[in-house]
Amino acid sequence: MDVLMRLLALALILAPQGLCQYEGYDYDTDYEPDPDVPYRPPIHSHHSVDYNVPSIPFSTECARECYCPPSSIATMYCDHRKLKTVPQIPSRIQQLYLQHNEIEAVNIKSFINATSLREINFSHNKLKSNKIDTGVFATSPHLHQIILNNNDLEEIPSPISSSVERIFLGANKINKVREQDLQGLVNVTMLDLCNNYIDNIKGKALSKLTKLMQLNICNNKLHSMPAGLPASLMYLSLENNSISKIPDDYFAKLPNLTAIRMSHNKIGEVPLYMFNLPKLMELNLGHNKLKRIFYVPRSLEHLYLQDNEFETINITLMCPVMDQTQRLTYLRLDQNRLKGPISTLAFLCFPHVQSIYYGEQKRSAGDNQVHVIPPYPPPEEPRYGDDDDDDDFPQYHREEHGPIVEEEDEDDDFHDYY
Ligand SMILES: *[C@@H]1O[C@H](CO)[C@@H](O)[C@H](O)[C@H]1NC(C)=O
Ligand SMILES: *[C@@H]1O[C@H](CO)[C@@H](O)[C@H](O)[C@H]1NC(C)=O
Ligand SMILES: *[C@@H]1O[C@H](CO)[C@@H](O)[C@H](O)[C@H]1NC(C)=O
Ligand SMILES: *[C@@H]1O[C@H](CO)[C@@H](O)[C@H](O)[C@H]1NC(C)=O
Ligand SMILES: *[C@@H]1O[C@H](CO)[C@@H](O)[C@H](O)[C@H]1NC(C)=O
Ligand SMILES: *[C@@H]1O[C@H](CO)[C@@H](O)[C@H](O)[C@H]1NC(C)=O
Repeated sequence: MDVLMRLLALALILAPQGLCQYEGYDYDTDYEPDPDVPYRPPIHSHHSVDYNVPSIPFSTECARECYCPPSSIATMYCDHRKLKTVPQIPSRIQQLYLQHNEIEAVNIKSFINATSLREINFSHNKLKSNKIDTGVFATSPHLHQIILNNNDLEEIPSPISSSVERIFLGANKINKVREQDLQGLVNVTMLDLCNNYIDNIKGKALSKLTKLMQLNICNNKLHSMPAGLPASLMYLSLENNSISKIPDDYFAKLPNLTAIRMSHNKIGEVPLYMFNLPKLMELNLGHNKLKRIFYVPRSLEHLYLQDNEFETINITLMCPVMDQTQRLTYLRLDQNRLKGPISTLAFLCFPHVQSIYYGEQKRSAGDNQVHVIPPYPPPEEPRYGDDDDDDDFPQYHREEHGPIVEEEDEDDDFHDYY
């Protein structure tokens, strides 16, 4: 009876959406499911068996507090239920949805038979490190994804199954990463630790994650660059920490880096060839304390340098050889201490530049004038008196310092990893 009612309700919810998809699909926006609506698999009216599962008679038992859709017998929905404890998890369950509850403690008993789990969504609960039994996240040798963001964790729970590939720990109260925390996680490709209180990452904690591609540690308390990053890394997010220095040869060991996001730190100076990385496409160093420009690798497309201390930009340093192979298309330089546009050599050097955004510059001591430098190229029809410079650059209006995983669009580079 209960199940029937749910199916009816679900059919009512799904039907209009199905129609809309044909009528008004917006090809410019990526489809983002409403994060607060729990995901329900589509109903297959002709069959209720997952053909990947062998046809031995499986128990269809489901925890009393939860919902196990008949169409997807390996999934148990326990989300948005004000639960205070984890229900008993039947052994066939592969996807476990526990997000948006009030769970503080996790008892190993609930997980004792949970040997098939592939995905656990435990986000938006009240999980506390000292109330989680050791090994609850290591019962399944098939675990791929564990989502623990928005909890009260003070440590990275360990052990986690060594099969895990994606770990989400954002918005907790984690203040350190110890060596043992990530031990044996040889298959991790994505680790999100944004919005925590991390000020310390122990020497070799990250170096053994030899498949790590994306590391997010934005909005934390780091004073130095995390040591020992694996050479597999492609996306590094360290926005909004307190990092003042990058060791000279830091990136030399990370040849696969495609994007580095380090805005809102305290970087004062970098060696000329610091970012000479063959695959680097996006570099965000906005809101730092840079004074001297550096070499721009040929692959770089987007360079963000707003709100630094640049008084001049020496093109010869950015681009010592003008062979027209540079891919730079966008350069942002507003809120520096420039007194005028950079040398027109820039356009010889960077033939693909579509816009250089200067905008308003910071006032230097003893200088009463606020310098406003028009953007390059100038708008088609000059719009003097229109003080909203940003209108000329709609494509770059986005949160620059949010965790990479929450980026919505316009940033193809990061899409594949969410
Ligand atoms: C996990 O839960 C969060 C919070 O409700 C939600 O935003 C997210 O989409 C869920 N993730 C998956 C993979 O279901
Ligand atoms: C675990 O599974 C076994 C075998 O199916 C069953 O007898 C036992 O009651 C289950 N344990 C719990 C705590 O559910
Ligand atoms: C890691 O991934 C590989 C390839 O998918 C798989 O063969 C291996 O069993 C995984 N390792 C662990 C510890 O699960
Ligand atoms: C930086 O992180 C702090 C918390 O560490 C947060 O309060 C602040 O809003 C963040 N600032 C930006 C610009 O994201
Ligand atoms: C770097 O990327 C290439 C191409 O994707 C890949 O074959 C190689 O294994 C990566 N290097 C490391 C150390 O992971
Ligand atoms: C730019 O830097 C080069 C190399 O250090 C130097 O020779 C040149 O004079 C500088 N150009 C300007 C305009 O300062």
